Amino acid sequence: MIEIDKICKRYGETVVVDNVSLAIPRGGVIGIVGPNGAGKSTLLSLTSRLIKPTSGAIRVDGLDVSKAPNRDLARRLSVMRQENHVAARLTVGDLVAFGRFPHNRGRPTREDAERVKAAIDFVGMETMADRFLDQLSGGQRQRAFVAMALAQDADYALFDEPLNNLDIHHAVSMMRLFRRMGDQPGKTVIVVLHDLNVAAAYADRVVVMQAGRVVSDGRPTEVITRTLLSDVFRVEGDVMEIDGRRVVNVAP
Ligand SMILES: Nc1ncnc2c1ncn2[C@@H]1O[C@H](COP(=O)(O)OP(=O)(O)OP(=O)(O)O)[C@@H](O)[C@H]1O
Ligand SMILES: [Mg+2]
Repeated sequence: MIEIDKICKRYGETVVVDNVSLAIPRGGVIGIVGPNGAGKSTLLSLTSRLIKPTSGAIRVDGLDVSKAPNRDLARRLSVMRQENHVAARLTVGDLVAFGRFPHNRGRPTREDAERVKAAIDFVGMETMADRFLDQLSGGQRQRAFVAMALAQDADYALFDEPLNNLDIHHAVSMMRLFRRMGDQPGKTVIVVLHDLNVAAAYADRVVVMQAGRVVSDGRPTEVITRTLLSDVFRVEGDVMEIDGRRVVNVAP
C-alpha cells in the first residue's frame, strides 16, 4: 500500500501539490490524469523521493519514504520520469542493467542478466541492446527507459507519460504490458496518461488532478464523464460506452 498523507509541495509562494491524500493498495493499474501543470509529475517525484515535500508524509508498505534507505525503497518502488537526462554514451543494455542495481549492488548474477534481457525483449528492443542511447529515436529511447523500470521489478512501478513518442503499436503493447503487470499478485502500476481513452481502457482506477489537488478518483466509468471534460479539461465532448468502456469523442 502507498499512503500519501496530506502532502503539500510549495515553490516559494506557489503551491503545486495542495494537501493531497491518497491510499493506493497493492494490485492493479492506476491512471493519473489531469491538465498540464496539475501536479502529476510532482506527485510522482514526491512519492519516489526525487523531491522533498513541504509537509506531509508518504509511506510505501509502511516504510517512511523520507527515511527509508535507498535500496529498500528501490526494491519496492521504481519510477520512470517524464524527462530523462542521462549520459548519451550509454547502451540500452547498460541502462536497463542499472535497473538491477538495487538487487545486486553492481555485481550482476546470471539471473540479473536474464532479467535484463527479458525486459529488453518485452519492449521489443532485442536488436538494439548494444546501441547507444543517442543513436535511438525518441520512441525507442522511451521504451529503453521503460525496460529499465521493468528490470527493477519493484512492487510499485510508477511511469510518467510512458506513451510519449510511441506509435500506436508500441503504445498498445506497452499498455497491455502494464495491464499484465498490474494483474500479477502484489504488483501495482501507477501511470500518468494524457489520453483519457487509454486510461479508460486499461486502468482499474483513475485519479484526476487539477491545480495541485485530487478532484476525482474512482473507476473509469465513474470518473470519465462530460463534466470531467468540461470542468477539468475545458473541452466540450461526448462520452460514449463501447464494449463496456468509456470512450471520449471531442469534435474537431
Ligand atoms: N522546480 C520547480 N520550481 C517551480 N515550479 C515548479 C517546479 N517544478 C514544477 N513546477 C510547477 O509546478 C506545477 C506542477 O508541475 P508538474 O510537472 O507536476 O505538472 P504535471 O501535472 O506533471 O504537468 P504535465 O502534464 O505538463 O506534465 C506547474 O505549474 C509547474 O510549473
Ligand atoms: Mg508531468
